[in-house]
Amino acid sequence: GLPAHVTIYEVGARDGLQNEKAVVPVEVKAEFLNRLADAGLTTLEATSFVHPKWVPQLADAADLLAMLERRPGVDYPVLVPNERGLDRAVEAGVDHIAVFASATETFAEKNLNRALDSQFAMFEPTVKRALAEGLRVRAYVSMAFGDPWEGAVDPAQVAAVGRRLVEMGCRQLSLGDTIGTGTPGHAEAVIDACVAGGVPIDQIAVHFHDTYGQALANTLAALRRGVTTVDASTGGLGGCPYAKSATGNLATEDLVWMLDGLGVSHGARLADLVETSVWMADKLGRPSPSRVVKALAGA
Ligand code: HMG
Ligand code: MG
Repeated sequence: GLPAHVTIYEVGARDGLQNEKAVVPVEVKAEFLNRLADAGLTTLEATSFVHPKWVPQLADAADLLAMLERRPGVDYPVLVPNERGLDRAVEAGVDHIAVFASATETFAEKNLNRALDSQFAMFEPTVKRALAEGLRVRAYVSMAFGDPWEGAVDPAQVAAVGRRLVEMGCRQLSLGDTIGTGTPGHAEAVIDACVAGGVPIDQIAVHFHDTYGQALANTLAALRRGVTTVDASTGGLGGCPYAKSATGNLATEDLVWMLDGLGVSHGARLADLVETSVWMADKLGRPSPSRVVKALAGA
């Protein structure tokens, strides 16, 4: 069966923009988030409190949050890798963070400057203090499907990393197909391994990049397994600067079109999302890669 309702966890302002070479003005980011809220989305990952040298595009995180009118009923999580990031996020009034782990040794080094095992020593005090201060905490596991340096990733390894994060107190675990190589049977295998490893299905979210055009098929497989939170990026923006061959996320519009067809509720208004993607494409100087945006905007 399929769930009656899916929560769309919108990552356009963070994952979508983090890889843009030209710095997007902070006012444009704030307007983007306001438009996404106006379109009915209720979970908007806003930015990252990472080292500004590592992701210069998001160096304006504190300015963005100061300028943003946070809408009632809308949740604005942010990425936080460590205690320094947590300090900055708390200072900015954030009440929901996401830590981001790697399932592979190479990506832990490239993305976090840590060995696989020592990433946990960075997250542990961060998560502990965030929970003690009443924040909500999500965790990602990146390279949960394939890794550009190491190749195929064992689902049992993903489950082992995921379990440690959930035991730390992370409320949700988002399985990241960072480079988009996964296929639907693989999505089922990774989810099943996590559940078998002790991560409850209602705590699992999926995060598919659409590099190989598999994101929507993988999402459907995940929904059939009982997943009810799906990460997506309006317009299909995105990519990770520390993972070669990572392109945009599953486009929110493509997800919404499928959910509407399946009769699964989600709360977003497709026309408003498409209008936002057309507006953002103009700001970025490039058309949205989303098939649904192309079809509906006639771009
Ligand atoms: P590091 O250099 O090992 O940091 O970087 P450190 O702990 O050794 O500290 C060095 C200096 O940086 C210190 O300053 C710290 O204060 C400062 P100093 O004392 O030398 O003056 N510092 C910071 N400053 C501001 N904010 C901070 C911060 N932390 C330390 N948060 C670190 C380690 C984790 C910080 C670095 O590797 C980093 O920022 N990495 C982030 C990379 C990133 O953002 N990648 C993209 C997001 S992940 C993704 O896209 C995947 C995802 O979408 C899921 C999927 O698709 O799979 C989530
Ligand atoms: Mg991502």
